[in-house]
This record gives sequence, C-alpha cells and structure tokens, in this order.
Amino acid sequence: MCGIIAYTGSQEAAPILLDGLHRLEYRGYDSAGIALLHRKRIRCWKAAGKISILRQRLPETTAGQCGIGHTRWATHGAPTDENAHPHTDSELRIAVAHNGIIENADVLRAQLMAEGVSFSSETDSEVLAHLLGAFDGSLIDAMRTVLPRIQGTYGLAAIDREAPDTVVVARLGSPVILGIGDGEMLAASDMSALARHTREIVHLDDGEVAEMTPRGFQVTTLDARPSQKNTTQLSGVLADYDKGGYAHYLHREIRDQADVVERTLSGRLDTRFSTAHLGGLNLAPRELLNIRRIKILGCGSAFYAGMSGAHMIEQLARLPVSAEAAAEFRYRNPVVEPETLYIAVSQSGETFDTLAALREIRRKGGHVLGIVNSVGSTIAREVDGGIYMHAGPEVSVASTKAYTSMLTVFALLALMLGRLRDVSPQRGNALVEALQGLPDKVRETLALEPAIASLAPMLVTAHSAFFLGRTSAYPVALEGAQKLKEISYIHAEAYPSSELKHGPLALISSHTPCIVMLPNDELLHKSLSTLEEIRTRGAPVIAVTDADHPRIRELSDEVIHIPQVEPLLQPVIAGIALQLLAYHSAVLMERDIDQPRNLAKSVTVE
Ligand code: F6R
Repeated sequence: MCGIIAYTGSQEAAPILLDGLHRLEYRGYDSAGIALLHRKRIRCWKAAGKISILRQRLPETTAGQCGIGHTRWATHGAPTDENAHPHTDSELRIAVAHNGIIENADVLRAQLMAEGVSFSSETDSEVLAHLLGAFDGSLIDAMRTVLPRIQGTYGLAAIDREAPDTVVVARLGSPVILGIGDGEMLAASDMSALARHTREIVHLDDGEVAEMTPRGFQVTTLDARPSQKNTTQLSGVLADYDKGGYAHYLHREIRDQADVVERTLSGRLDTRFSTAHLGGLNLAPRELLNIRRIKILGCGSAFYAGMSGAHMIEQLARLPVSAEAAAEFRYRNPVVEPETLYIAVSQSGETFDTLAALREIRRKGGHVLGIVNSVGSTIAREVDGGIYMHAGPEVSVASTKAYTSMLTVFALLALMLGRLRDVSPQRGNALVEALQGLPDKVRETLALEPAIASLAPMLVTAHSAFFLGRTSAYPVALEGAQKLKEISYIHAEAYPSSELKHGPLALISSHTPCIVMLPNDELLHKSLSTLEEIRTRGAPVIAVTDADHPRIRELSDEVIHIPQVEPLLQPVIAGIALQLLAYHSAVLMERDIDQPRNLAKSVTVE
C-alpha cells in the first residue's frame, strides 16, 4: 500500500527520498512524488506510474535538505499525476504525504470549498494540506488543531515553508517509524526505507505526533503531552532488502527458506523435555492447560497458514482449533470466551483487519497471542504475548518465506501445547527430531526446482487451474491456488477433493489442469479415486506426493515427488513445491512478479 519517506539533515534530500521510495516500491503503488523545502520555498514533483518516471521529471540538480516523498496506491481517485502525493495548499505553504483513509473527507472538502478553497486532486488527502495551510501558527500546532477533526486513519509527514529544516509526522492507525541518524532524521512508513541510513529507530504510537529537525526529535501526544519513547534496533540486515543476485525478490525469498526455517526454529527446540520453548507467550503452563479452544485469525496467506496451524494444534493438543478470516470474524459480533486462546497471524504486523479483530477481542476481554514477523509492528505491540517468526524482511508482495515460517511456528506451538496434554515424550522426541531435520528437507524440496519449472508450460495456457487436497492438504491447496493467481494471473481455485462431486466437477475438462495433493496418509486411497474421476474427464494432472504408489503415476501426467517428512510437517514441504510451480509459471508469462497488479504488500486499510 502507500509508503512515506521523510528526511531532514545536511545532505541533499532528493536522492535519499528517491532511494526511500524505491525501497517502498515492493509494497505496491501506482504513482509517486516528492516535495523539497529550500529557502522558504516548497517544490513538488509527482508522476503517475513507476518511480523511474518521477526520476525523469526531476531536474538534474535539486536543492533542498529537507523533504518528504510518497508512493500512492490509489483508493480515492485514479492514479494520475494530480492525485499523486505530496499535496499542497493553494499558497504552497504546506506539503503533506498521507497514508490511510480520511472518512469524512467529503464533508471537510465541502466546507473548504464553501470557504473558496479550490482543489487540484480528487484525493481525500488533499483536505489535510488545505486545513494545515490555513492554520495561523507552527506546523506542530496546526497538526494538533487539524488532526482531531479527521475521522479515519493516517500516517503522515508534512513540511512547512516557514519551518526551514523541520518535518512533522503523525500517526493514527497507519505506521510511522522515525530513523535517528548522525545529524539527520528520517521517518518512513516501513523499515525497509530506513535500513540504508540508520539502525536506530523509534515507533510512533497512535495519537502521537513528532517534530524532527537535524538536531533530533520530540514526540508528543496530540494534546501536547510529552511521550517517552524507546529507541530500538532495526531488525534484519541491509542485504535482506536486496535481491541477492536473483531476478526477483520472490525467487530469493523462496530459495532462502531453509535458512528461514532454521532461524524460526533457532533456540526453540527443547531436547531435554522433547518440547518447544516459546518465551514470549506470557502464559504459565497452568494457564495454557485451562485453554479449552483456540481461534486463529489472519488474512490471505496468513489465514491459510492459520488453517494449517489449526490442524497441527488440534492433532497434537487435542483441542478444538479453528481458523477464520480476520475481517469476517470481526464483523459478525463474535462471542469471545475466556477459555479460548486467540492467535493473530501476520507477516507485516500491520494488516488492518487482523489488527481490528485483535482489538475487538481484547476489548471484550479475550487473550490474544501474535505470530508476527515484523518486530515492533502494531500487532506485535498490541497482543498479550506472542512468537516472532524471524523470517527476515519479506519484500515481494506475494508471501512465501513468511508463510513457511508461520507453519514452522505453528508446528512449534502444536508441539508445546501437545506436550502439555496428549503427546508422550517419545512422540515429542520424534517431532523434535523431525523439526531439527526440516531445514534439510526444505533444501531437498528446493533441489526439485528444475523439475518443477519444467511443468509450468502445463499451466500457462490454461484459463483455470484446480488445486485439490483433503484435511491437512486442503489449506496447502488454497495457498497453492492463491500463489498461482497472485503472480501469474491464471484463475485458480482450491477445493477439498471430497467436494469435487458436489459441484466443481462440472468444470473439469481437458482445459483445466488439476494439481492434486496426495499425502501418504490414511486418505490416500480415497484421493486416488478422485484422481480417477478427474482423469475420466480428461484433465491434465500434476500430482504432488510423498507416497510411492503405482496408481499415482498411472493416473497423473506428471508427478512432483516431494521428500517424506513427519506428516504434520508435510504442508511446509508441499507448500514450497507449489510456490515454485507458481513462480515458474509467472516467469514464463513475464509477469510483474514482485509487484503483481492491484496488490499491495501490507493492507493497512479495510
Ligand atoms: C499473499 C499475501 C497476502 C497476505 C495478507 C496478510 O501472498 O501476501 O494474502 O498474506 O495480506 O498479510 P500479513 O501477513 O502481513 O498480515
């Protein structure tokens, strides 16, 4: 979604802002712009389309050591030059870049127009520039007066021609992070834009506003009370934000997954008691034993990871566990029970619907754990306890390594909860060993890449593909279909194989490749019957299996033989095979793999 970068210091701001925008590109955007402050004058450059177009519009040298930049993902108004941020007031006194949505923008716009203000864009954000510009006083005081009138969400950065080296940023529901440099200050909506300049960061909280100059920063609440802020170290290393020699971030992130699993597991396996050690849950074993039910919430791939997690925990802890899309959950006035443990899963830790669901649960007195990748993110800070994934920064819009890391965390949690209840030390030990061996199994799966890539031509001519699986393999099928549609734009659907006869079989023909998950479990023979049904209708079949059954080869056009692992961990391995299939299909189709159309990395609006 939209991204913000701001700078004040002794260097020329434009190259720093442009580099910041480039680092924010992965979040998805359709226009970009920067505003510079120099000698009491604000100048703005904006462009619909890629940052390269914005670069072309800039003069060769741009003066200004203080400025703001923005990548916009259109919500109010088409992606045009005019609608791109920063926005200014009519007098060019203020420039502002805004993430979020102003729900009462229409009312505010009508009031301003009645006062004679003319607008140059269709955006909700422009009202901010006019309201701030009309205030007679300092920019920080303008913020304190104007922001309480805003209904909705904002992460914003503004400059004022009357305050030569000052940037003011504010946050309500949309992240803003300050970066502390040596004689310079930065701010951004995302750590990736700060990583090249500083390791020291400060997270702004909702309702806070910060004034930054090259000499430092001051954070206060909107009603001018000083806020005590802790400085934290930026997570990940700079190299994590690069492609590392791969053509796409997505490819790098898929190939990194053995290391990711290793990091997620690191220090968490307890061989002495054959369990997992998860430090941040903030729940004593007795409290964990009192849990009667678990509800997992997330969006998109995090939701599908949650479905796999529900299966893992239910199998080992023998507790009823279910996963639900966070947005649906919160809008059905959910019953929040004291003996239910709620788990919010999110890579970014900023997904609006997941955050809103967790706030609703906590408001009703429920206990929420987070499974989060982004350290210090809003979800990570608002949950009662949790587990960091340690997957490292995920840059490509489509989630791969974070999804795999989520599954790994769920396996650890399932083991830990299982060992408190139903799982014997012997079985616990076998699971610990299986987890220890998982990074190598991931490496073996990645070694299948050339074979999997050779199957991509079967998909790229299809209008529609079906992903089929049962029980634990069904969420994997959902995620496989999700990956394919996101990055290749091939329509893909996932179904439990058992549901085929109840409707979708009508669509199966020689034009609908079917990717069938066939784990070597007690349902294998039933899944083979499904395979027969599909074959009879002439559909091309790719089987994904760890089983060695002669019928699989007979009934499939192609077989991806994935390594055998402990059945509970099979989704991790099968998921990676499907990621490779989607990636190579998208490569063949020459898609914009890291930034698929219409998608954004972290969905911070509803
Ligand atoms: C899919 C994808 C999205 C995210 C979803 C949740 O590849 O990336 O479906 O999984 O938007 O995002 P997080 O995990 O950041 O809450």
